[in-house]
Amino acid sequence: METQNASFRTSLYSSFHSIQIPQNHLFSILSKPDSPKWVSLKTHCSFSSAALLANSKTQSQNINKKLECKGASDIEDDNPKPKIRRKNLAIFVSGGGSNFRSIHEATLNGSVHGDVVVLVTNKQDCGGAEYARDSRIPVIVFPKKKDEQKSFSAEDLVNTLRSFKVDFILLAGYLKLIPVELVRAYPKSILNIHPSLLPAFGGKGFYGMNVHKAVIASGARYSGPTIHYVDEEYDTGRILAQRVVPVLANDTAEELAAWVLHEEHILYADVAAALCEERIVWREDGVPLIRAKENPNDYL
Ligand code: GRF
Repeated sequence: METQNASFRTSLYSSFHSIQIPQNHLFSILSKPDSPKWVSLKTHCSFSSAALLANSKTQSQNINKKLECKGASDIEDDNPKPKIRRKNLAIFVSGGGSNFRSIHEATLNGSVHGDVVVLVTNKQDCGGAEYARDSRIPVIVFPKKKDEQKSFSAEDLVNTLRSFKVDFILLAGYLKLIPVELVRAYPKSILNIHPSLLPAFGGKGFYGMNVHKAVIASGARYSGPTIHYVDEEYDTGRILAQRVVPVLANDTAEELAAWVLHEEHILYADVAAALCEERIVWREDGVPLIRAKENPNDYL
């Protein structure tokens, strides 16, 4: 059954490579090639999800006028490109840490222009923490157990991350609320990955397998990971990137979780690459977009 599902899902994926979306719509799956109301979108090999902005030249130019780019002083579109500083990443985990591994591997193989300089976990024996120790990445336990909490406060965490010169914080299955001190110390610099297409199936209680069970029970035909900025609530920050996974009629929560996790690894490494290359731009209304690597006038 899984093999059949796999090939069906793969054929659905391949149909996403030439997505067409209605003008002015950010999200669409179905393509209607013959309709004049639909515009073709070029997709980029690693971002084949529907979370794409229409890329007609006029639209891109209009968008360009209104975008603010974090670290923009370091970037120019004209060649030769200025050298971009390698970024320092902190990763937060509570579990197995497969996303952490995928990002770490991407830093080692050169596809992410940054380094994982510290791992933060609330569970010092979790798989992610073990992997960090094996890879000689410093591990910080936060929050500490109740009786030790006074010994390492949220301010201490901020100061420690600053001492590692952390540029970006990537939450990858970290199950504790991020202290407000940290959110304020790192504005527009903390990301989280969630295993559903937010804003659906997010918020309190939606974690782990609960998410996938709820997706299947709802009858939703598509799911997939979302990467979003972190604010002071659960799963409410601005969406930065998504990938779409079809939900098949006979999917179990475990099967869907495995497909979504597979997409998470690709998406988080791609987003980490964009962050480290300073390709995030902020639309006037506060929505973050990713500037395509191949063409700075396209957004993902
Ligand atoms: C992922 O499904 C992620 O979406 C969620 O927690 C899980 C972490 O998995 N936030 P792993 O520890 O990276 O394997």
